Amino acid sequence: MVLLTGFNKIKTAVFISGKGSNLKALIKFSKLKKSPININLIISNNPKSKGLKFAKIFKIKKKVFNYNHKNLSEKKILFELKKNKIKLICLAGFMKILSKYFIKNFKGIILNIHPSLLPKFKGLNTHERAIKNKEKYSGCTVHIVNSKLDSGKIILQKKVKIQKYDTPKTLADKILIQEHKLYPKAIMEIFSL
Ligand code: GAR
Repeated sequence: MVLLTGFNKIKTAVFISGKGSNLKALIKFSKLKKSPININLIISNNPKSKGLKFAKIFKIKKKVFNYNHKNLSEKKILFELKKNKIKLICLAGFMKILSKYFIKNFKGIILNIHPSLLPKFKGLNTHERAIKNKEKYSGCTVHIVNSKLDSGKIILQKKVKIQKYDTPKTLADKILIQEHKLYPKAIMEIFSL
């Protein structure tokens, strides 16, 4: 449990690779009075991430790292995080796996949102696999990031019913709507008194 001191909000970096709809939801949440976080930095491995537009819209600093050399990119990111006094990282559709080195050397909390009911369906293509497996439910999970993929302590989960007519796309859309609510809720859960 981390306690908020005074009125200072927790300096947060959001990592994205794509569309950034979770980033947008987190930015909106961060603007609420009750929110314990402020988003100070957006990081992407992909210069074409559509989500980078939110940096401009909401006047948030952004940095893109090409990841041609993962170790070097991670060192540069760690430097940037330190420079900006970042204490919380929210992975939001960031499609690179953080190394053990990175996780050990970031002195703060790292959260991730994953589109399945972990520990089921770690990794990629979660919706396709849930449907193929004839699951009745799938959903999303916010968890702490540790050095094992999608395996850290679970903070919150939301179940979503899989209907007979669902395709990976319709299921992804339904779950994404829940992700946008779950991430802020999980942050409240971790940081509220
Ligand atoms: C979200 O569904 C997120 O859970 C998933 O990527 C999507 C990003 O959407 N993340 C992963 O699969 C991580 N392994 P967004 O860019 O619109 O937030």
